[in-house]
Amino acid sequence: MALFDPKVATLAPPKRVRFVIRKYDPESGRSWWQEHEVETYRGMTVLDALLKIKEEQDHSLTLRYSCRMAVCGSCGMTINGTPRLACQTQVAQVAREDAPVVRVEPLYNFKVVKDLLTDFTEFFEKHRRVKPYLIRRDVDEQENPTLEYKLLPEEYEQFYQYSLCIACGLCVAACPIFASDTKFLGPQALSQAYRFVVDPRDEGYVERLEIVDSIDGVFGCHFAASCSAVCPKEVDPAGAIQRLRSLLLKYRLGLYKKRINGVVPPMEAKKERVPLPPEAQPLDGVDVEKLEETPPEIPVEKLVA
Ligand code: SF4
Ligand code: FES
Repeated sequence: MALFDPKVATLAPPKRVRFVIRKYDPESGRSWWQEHEVETYRGMTVLDALLKIKEEQDHSLTLRYSCRMAVCGSCGMTINGTPRLACQTQVAQVAREDAPVVRVEPLYNFKVVKDLLTDFTEFFEKHRRVKPYLIRRDVDEQENPTLEYKLLPEEYEQFYQYSLCIACGLCVAACPIFASDTKFLGPQALSQAYRFVVDPRDEGYVERLEIVDSIDGVFGCHFAASCSAVCPKEVDPAGAIQRLRSLLLKYRLGLYKKRINGVVPPMEAKKERVPLPPEAQPLDGVDVEKLEETPPEIPVEKLVA
């Protein structure tokens, strides 16, 4: 799924769109489809439409969201059969003039709490199981750091893509293995295991490789790659799982020797001034050096006065 498609910004949705929403009442256990007609506008997202429905037509509609900018990962839902972020999906992308209908359901492979709201407890339990943080032998230096961990740009590139995960769960909702085997760690947890295994600052790779070395770990993946197809951040969990599997086999054969980076003194701030480009020259009479000086502290009493 492309991160940003400039063509989408110019699309106009059909004037009126029918939203068919899967509702679920946990008290009675009843589940049903409910329809709402929404007047749309250019740029309206599915989340905007759902909030309009909640405000004007069905106050009981339950969903989760926060940032509205594809960052927090909390508005994942199934839109016209595909797991998507509701805040990142424009109505114009999923409703056409000849089919002005948007079907919205909770994420597949997750327990439903109510309507479109799903339970992520198991998802985060699996995420925690792969220890998604830097493990160092010198815990004292890690907790009371005096130096920096060394990391070269080319080393950072090895795991940068996988560190973009926002834990939205779309990959898990799209995974056919997860649908039939809930013990499977799943694409999100496995891609995060890979992210830390290849990080040269991490010393916990052996314990992490032990955790993923099973049929519920990397060997459970059948490489359907639907996880990568729906990921809103282009993390490519399917690729990460294949790399993790190959790394694990090398490790088992004694061919993988991880190089761990040490700690180094903090980098000195560059002292020399970078010359301004000609188009950014200051206006006549502006003293750049003076502007960059730290302003003198003003006593609070003066500020109040
Ligand atoms: S890998 Fe992609 S789809 Fe899966 S949780 Fe992370 S951001 Fe979401
Ligand atoms: S509301 Fe945060 S990702 Fe959609």
